[in-house]
Amino acid sequence: MSRRRFLESGLAVTLLPGLEAALGRFATGAPAQPLTRFSPVTPSTADEVVLPEGFRHEVVIRWGDPFTADGRTWGYNNDWVGLLPLGSPEDALLGVNHEYISLAIEGDAPLYRESFQALRGRADTIADWKRDVGLSVLRVRRDERTGAWGPVLGDRLNRRVDAVTPFVVDGPAAAVLGERAEGTFNNCSGQATPWGTFLSCEENFQDHVPEAVDTKGRSPRGGDFDLPGGHYGWVVEVDPHDPASTPRKHTALGRCRHENVAIRAEPGRPVAAYMGDDRTGGHVWKFVSDELYRPGDRESCRRLLRSGALYAARFEDGGGGEWRRLDLATELHPNPDPRDLKPALPPFARTLGDVYEGLGAALADAYQAANCIGATPAGRPEDLEVHPGDGSVFIAFTAVSGRPGLFENVYGEIWRLEEEGRDASAKRFRWTRFAGGGPADASRAGRVFAQPDNMLFDPEGNLWVCTDMSSSRLNQRADYLPFANNGLFLIPTRGESAGRARQLASIPCEAESCGPALTPDGGTLFLSIQHPGERFGIRKQAGAEPRGSNWPEGGLRTPPRPSLIAIRRS
Ligand code: FEO
Ligand code: CA
Ligand code: CA
Repeated sequence: MSRRRFLESGLAVTLLPGLEAALGRFATGAPAQPLTRFSPVTPSTADEVVLPEGFRHEVVIRWGDPFTADGRTWGYNNDWVGLLPLGSPEDALLGVNHEYISLAIEGDAPLYRESFQALRGRADTIADWKRDVGLSVLRVRRDERTGAWGPVLGDRLNRRVDAVTPFVVDGPAAAVLGERAEGTFNNCSGQATPWGTFLSCEENFQDHVPEAVDTKGRSPRGGDFDLPGGHYGWVVEVDPHDPASTPRKHTALGRCRHENVAIRAEPGRPVAAYMGDDRTGGHVWKFVSDELYRPGDRESCRRLLRSGALYAARFEDGGGGEWRRLDLATELHPNPDPRDLKPALPPFARTLGDVYEGLGAALADAYQAANCIGATPAGRPEDLEVHPGDGSVFIAFTAVSGRPGLFENVYGEIWRLEEEGRDASAKRFRWTRFAGGGPADASRAGRVFAQPDNMLFDPEGNLWVCTDMSSSRLNQRADYLPFANNGLFLIPTRGESAGRARQLASIPCEAESCGPALTPDGGTLFLSIQHPGERFGIRKQAGAEPRGSNWPEGGLRTPPRPSLIAIRRS
């Protein structure tokens, strides 16, 4: 469907009667979410966090701040935030990813290097890069007097997991990779699981190690991190309650530029994990566990992601779709476009098993294997989230797929996927367009965001959406001027304003908003401010606005610092 037809169709604001009924049931008795009533902010180019009247924010922790008992510091470019309550509604553990270090790429300023020099008084090294990525576990607590959530510095559960932390490798690809790996990096989005762990996804690992594996699952060592490329691109799991635990890489969930993982868990049923592969022409994925979800059975929960079936989505033009299993018996239907990378297919090959030496090898090459079986090359799938009411899956396609067809909206779109029979194990689904990005005008009321990325459902089924307009477009390209800086938006999924975005926050210059996570009472929202100043670096001249950044401290020549903030009512 063209963008125009999509906008006219009303699909963006129309929910199926079934969903309406389901929402009515699940929302009964749910407390009203305290942050959802506000007058939207005007898009802003200010180098600060702009919130509606009656709201405030605190900076919780900044890049470089010590927070563990042994003096480890908060990593660079905080991204996804997950929250696990810790016994009381006012005490919690946060899992926060540190995606990458901002080197000078595609015309950007050497932000990390300049900032590192300014902050630490010396030049950075690759060893520093490895210590500044990965993820953090941070205990946070609400101050009874002020109501503000702040870090519990030096807590025994506070932890850094970085590019040198030892990992265990499990699942079918352990046979080809080995059972040990070193470190995690380019951690983008993730998930706090119902069984009390944090999942974190390795996205653009090809920045630091070789990406390609062969059909035997072998990969060379190399890149500036000098590590075996096949060890990265996985979903990893950390037990935050045991700071001495060894984190795991779950190869059953496949290897790609893993954006995210979103868990649907229902007692007595297999667990489904929905995932995006953030690249032009990347795929939408589903993993279905072999074991059933047994709440409270810690040991069986820890095994859930070690074995199961992995599927990639094929989206059909009319709104239908099929999950194609990445399995050795699956028939080949190669995507014909040469941009959809594939291994050389032997002339006799009929199934994936004729191409790959084993399931482990196919899982280690999941992106290319999916192109062999006709999975749809999509418009850069970023975050996926499971609706708390009906289990449908919302997908943020942040960009176009680069080919005519389903993914042509340059501003990105949010889709909704419903499994057949609402069964997480279904082999077929239906999809609809829920909300489209694009500039606001009279005929497109409510569409005021572009490039949706991280998302979060609150318990009422409202969708919170972070945006990541790239620094090369933001405040520079004429068609992006109406959006100004990146921000945080609220999009209800029911009622009169379903599908209409309202902006809660505008964030500092050249930053991307990430996370987000809500406290158990819904009264505070944690948000990562990633890479302020990434395009033009440290702002050094008055009048340079909106180029560069000095956030959060402010003051010309002050290096900007990626930081975690907490938003609440004043
Ligand atoms: Fe790391 Fe796809 O955002
Ligand atoms: Ca992301
Ligand atoms: Ca992003």
